[in-house]
Amino acid sequence: MSKLNEQYNLLFKQLATLLDGETNMVTNMAQFSALIFNNIEDLNWAGFYLVGSGNSLQLGPFQGQVACTKIPIGHGVCGLAAKKRETVTVADIDQFEGHIACDSRSRSEIVCPVIAEDQLIAVLDIDSPLFNRFSQQDIKGIENLVEILVNKTRWSLSY
Ligand code: SME
Repeated sequence: MSKLNEQYNLLFKQLATLLDGETNMVTNMAQFSALIFNNIEDLNWAGFYLVGSGNSLQLGPFQGQVACTKIPIGHGVCGLAAKKRETVTVADIDQFEGHIACDSRSRSEIVCPVIAEDQLIAVLDIDSPLFNRFSQQDIKGIENLVEILVNKTRWSLSY
């Protein structure tokens, strides 16, 4: 098993333990953000945008610098992942037309949708100061982490 796979396997266990017995969505998203921000290398921002009222995403629990509070669905990397309901990875944010710059250190980004019972709840946004930071293994690992979060949490859109 590769070192990266081992790191993700450890994170899966740590996340499951951390969220054990807790189903509150804000609490779990906050814990998730802190766990990945402090244990995945070379990140400068990690957190959630929640499906808000109207056609926009609203800033949720995160770690990193202050960020923009609302993103229209379809705009930026977050809005695209929300619209497509698919993970979007951007190797060089300067090459992504419409990228919304929150932290000037960000060079690459991954956004993974959070879907529970077929409903889009939020997107997880992770930024790195390195170009092309997120490999296929990272994508799979991050999607698995989100799946653990989804299964451990009671989701409500009337937060
Ligand atoms: N870059 C994102 C906006 C959110 S910040 O990176 C935290 C985007 O283009 O959607």
